[in-house]
Amino acid sequence: MSGAAEYGRPVVDMTAGDRTGADFQAVLLYLKETRGFDFTGYKQTSLSRRLHRRMTQVGIESYPDYIDHLQVNTDEFAALFNTLLINVTGFLRDTDSWDFLRTEVVPKVLQEVGPEAPIRVWSAGCASGEEAYSLAILLTEALGVDAFRQRVKIYATDIDEEALAQARQASYGEREVEGLPPDLLERYFEQQGSRHIFRQDLRRSIIFGRNDLVQDAPISRIHLLLCRNTLMYFNAETQAKILTRLHFALLPQGVLFLGKAEMLLSYESLFKPVDLKRRIFRKVPTRGLAPGAMFSHASTPARRTAGDGDDELREQAFSAGPVAQIVVTADDQVLLVNHQAQSMFGLTSRDVGRPLRDLELSYRPVELRAQVDRVKAERRTLRLKDIEWLRGPAETVWLDVQLSPLVSEGTVLGVSIVFQDVSAARRLMDELEHANRQLESAYEELQSTNEELETTNEELQSTVEELETTNEELQSTNEELETMNEELQSTNDELQTINERLSERSVELDDLNNFLESILTSLRSGVIVVDVEMRVIVWNRGSEELWGLRRDEANGQHLLNLDIGLPLSELRPLVRSALVDADPAGEVTIAAVNRRGRAVSVRVVASPLRSRGGDTEGAILVLEEN
Ligand SMILES: C[S@@+](CC[C@H](N)C(=O)[O-])C[C@H]1O[C@@H](n2cnc3c(N)ncnc32)[C@H](O)[C@@H]1O
Repeated sequence: MSGAAEYGRPVVDMTAGDRTGADFQAVLLYLKETRGFDFTGYKQTSLSRRLHRRMTQVGIESYPDYIDHLQVNTDEFAALFNTLLINVTGFLRDTDSWDFLRTEVVPKVLQEVGPEAPIRVWSAGCASGEEAYSLAILLTEALGVDAFRQRVKIYATDIDEEALAQARQASYGEREVEGLPPDLLERYFEQQGSRHIFRQDLRRSIIFGRNDLVQDAPISRIHLLLCRNTLMYFNAETQAKILTRLHFALLPQGVLFLGKAEMLLSYESLFKPVDLKRRIFRKVPTRGLAPGAMFSHASTPARRTAGDGDDELREQAFSAGPVAQIVVTADDQVLLVNHQAQSMFGLTSRDVGRPLRDLELSYRPVELRAQVDRVKAERRTLRLKDIEWLRGPAETVWLDVQLSPLVSEGTVLGVSIVFQDVSAARRLMDELEHANRQLESAYEELQSTNEELETTNEELQSTVEELETTNEELQSTNEELETMNEELQSTNDELQTINERLSERSVELDDLNNFLESILTSLRSGVIVVDVEMRVIVWNRGSEELWGLRRDEANGQHLLNLDIGLPLSELRPLVRSALVDADPAGEVTIAAVNRRGRAVSVRVVASPLRSRGGDTEGAILVLEEN
């Protein structure tokens, strides 16, 4: 279902309809239900004017369409509240009134408070904080920095969280500080670029918080209360309610400072003017039956006739009780309401003498009517524990409610109902439980972390053991390697020696070879040596010259296959016998043709080639030309 249908279609066009009619109320209801802002106590015509201004800015003409717009664009709420909760303010706003406060009022208040006592100040509807910081400046000027820091507490409240967030920053631009005299600006602000930041040491004495003047309990024991340019936005009934609360908030003789446009015409029993023009008032202490003192004349005959000081004292004592309390008569009329009950449930003097059932209190925060009947019937105290009460949009309060029968000479005169706010204890319990749960889960995490660490530790230990074993193995391998290395080294040394000997031998052999070579070369005869296969292994210079065949051409060839001018077949028997027979040498003379083509006679002597052991390894042929 669309918002428009839910909150009051059919559409009444703004140009045609009543601006505070059903459609307008539907918007207010929507704001209350979705955001907890209750605007019913505000002056409806100015509220609708401002709402209409906002609607014009976003180009919407009817309230139902605007509800639709809010439903789709949640950012619109902030813009709307900025328009509705006019946050206009300034430092030392209305200089003349502030001068009067500084010169006439504050000195008197400080004198009454005395030289040491704490000073409690409340700026209600503080918007973006300028009023609270102005108060801090004024009181520091009067007391000095140290005394201000030690003695003063400034409570600065507003319904608008966005304005409060700005106030908490304590940071203002050039235009915002325009109203401050330059010397105060210099002494109380630190310049950071184009911003002016209020002194941090004094800032600590100012406590910002959300407080709805219509719904929330007031701050108490206040010496100086500023509620400027805020009351004027409420209708008469809500103003009365707020003023009763402001009255309660102030200490006897406390001072109330209102805005220029705000008057207190019909509240002379609550406040008397100090300076009417500047809207500065003193609290009238509640002696007797002032509107703020919630006692019923009608139903207390003794009070009517006696009028003595004791009765008044009893009433005052009851009124000042620290917990909210009301008393109803035997026929369920409200007889007494103390200050705490007044501020807690928004009761006024008009509620005294009314039947309990006519008050919202009779069923909210807890159903009381049946309980009152029960207490009267059973004549015993009844305790209702942990009653949850949604006091504001975001404020939950827990109450213990105690109903006690008031009996005299066997007759029930009435019932006392005491409402004890146990929210703090409850919150503490909740926090404790929460902390406990967190502790438990932290403990569990710790335990599992511990277990993991233990496991990791064990793993590490076994890794260390493995590494130790590996290390030992490596060490013994190393030792083995060292031994092997030493052995290799000595083998190497031996090899080196052998090698050296071999090279010595090789040199000797080379020498020997060279020697043999030179012998063979020097011989004029041809010398041919063959192996057992008759392959040429030596062919000396004499053979080259005799037959015209080079050594490299002859070496490795079968002797009988050589192409020389010697009939080799005639040599065969001679060579064979040298290879095979034991006969040491044989010879033969063969006719041949030498390299120059001349016929020659060649004497060939063949001897076996023997090894040291006596084996025949080939044959040696010596050839000479006759
Ligand atoms: C015009 S400003 C006044 C600021 C300052 N006191 C001054 O006079 O310069 C009115 C302030 O009243 C606040 N306000 C409106 N309704 C309120 C409520 N129900 N409870 C507390 N503050 C409220 C607005 O948010 C706004 O910041």
